[in-house]
Amino acid sequence: MTTPIDYAHAHAEQFREQLNDLLRIPSVSTTPELAGEVRRAGQWLVDDMKRIGFPHAELVDTKGHPIVYGEWLTAGADAPTVLIYGHYDVQPAEMIDGWDSDPFEPVVRDGKIYARGSTDDKGPVVAHLKAIESIIQTNGKLPINVKIIFEGEEETSSIHLGDFVTEYKERLKADACLISDTSIYAPDIPSIVYGLRGLVYMELHVQGPKTDLHSGGFGGTVHNPAQALAEIIAKLHHPDGAVSVPGFYDDIEPMSDAEREELAKLPWEVEDWSQSTGITEPWGEPQFSLGERVGARPTLEINGMASGFYGEGAKTVLPAKALAKISCRLVANQNPHKIYELLRDYIASITPKTVKTELRLLHTGDPALTARDSVAMQAAIEAYKGGWGGTEPVFTREGGSIPIVANFQRELGIPVVLMGFGLETDGAHGPNEHFGLDRYYKGIDTIITFHEAYAKLHAAGK
Ligand code: BES
Ligand code: MN
Ligand code: MN
Repeated sequence: MTTPIDYAHAHAEQFREQLNDLLRIPSVSTTPELAGEVRRAGQWLVDDMKRIGFPHAELVDTKGHPIVYGEWLTAGADAPTVLIYGHYDVQPAEMIDGWDSDPFEPVVRDGKIYARGSTDDKGPVVAHLKAIESIIQTNGKLPINVKIIFEGEEETSSIHLGDFVTEYKERLKADACLISDTSIYAPDIPSIVYGLRGLVYMELHVQGPKTDLHSGGFGGTVHNPAQALAEIIAKLHHPDGAVSVPGFYDDIEPMSDAEREELAKLPWEVEDWSQSTGITEPWGEPQFSLGERVGARPTLEINGMASGFYGEGAKTVLPAKALAKISCRLVANQNPHKIYELLRDYIASITPKTVKTELRLLHTGDPALTARDSVAMQAAIEAYKGGWGGTEPVFTREGGSIPIVANFQRELGIPVVLMGFGLETDGAHGPNEHFGLDRYYKGIDTIITFHEAYAKLHAAGK
């Protein structure tokens, strides 16, 4: 008798070609000119869902990019329902950023598919559809009910999905939510992520003189806004790397000793960190390990600065204004709006009288911790064992953000399971993003096992 996993293995080549088709569509959500391509990628997913047997699959329009929504709900009244979420939009990518091949023309080198979106998140998204296809083709039906949301605005902070979730609360009702958009600890050690950071993204505008001035005529009398910006930014951290904004850490719940010990067993090796960064000396809060600094501590980052003249040659100008893009990664229990207000007030208090500053809020995303004792979580543990030759997954916290996770928890009241297949070294958001074909195929096996395990554990009343 063939099993869904046999089916998946027999169709490996075809499944890879189908992923390639989606990877060829440059669905960059932040670039307005590519809106048509984002839509085309969404439509590709709708078409594939219809082809593999979803009775309901549609592109739902929003004020931004469309949401892919589908349902397969005939597993039976006693079967649990899982809401699967992923995103089909990608970060920008151009050859000039340092790609060795066209980011939207997938190629396989050393067993890895190189293309923008391969690991984040088209590879895992297509793995879900191919797992479902394998089960339906083998058994004629799924063992659990499935609702699917694939979003086209994750990389731009899910601006419209929150409202969709609130509006369609009833329709989206499920027993658990399953997401494959995180990394595993190592190629041979799968991991379930139980902590994601939140985000608040801001712009700091510094206004000096009403117009650019001759630096000879006015230098020494006018506070240069680029300098004022640098002075302000220099006051945002203590010398040891901690954020100096008053109240910044107030709402954080400290990790228990047990949790710290558990995480300490999964160290971030400085050598690996050096390999990824090209830097030899780590920086940051010395009392926390590298893994804790990323997974369990909030940060404040300068994402970019602009002021004055930076073309070729020299220009003796005293610029009129300066700008910094600033974002904070937040951990569970911190509120992005409150953090924005704290930072706004602090910057106002340290702004010298010689310039004007304004801190603008661009977007926010809530942090999340996920429940580790749900039935779906048990199913995910079994699932990884199925995909990784019996290896038990470990539990990790990660530094990235998936803003909608907190909405699913709050609005739908269901446990979320983060069962990803990426690796920190896949180059997500950077040049030469790639996804190991082994992880694509193991991911499909893992998801197939999830469907089967969740049905069984649910029936057993676990
Ligand atoms: N898949 C990532 C999130 C992620 C990265 C989770 C690494 C865990 C580990 C997601 O696509 C992403 O990039 N999110 C953005 C969200 C932001 C634009 C609001 C992020 O984290 O910067
Ligand atoms: Mn992602
Ligand atoms: Mn991303």
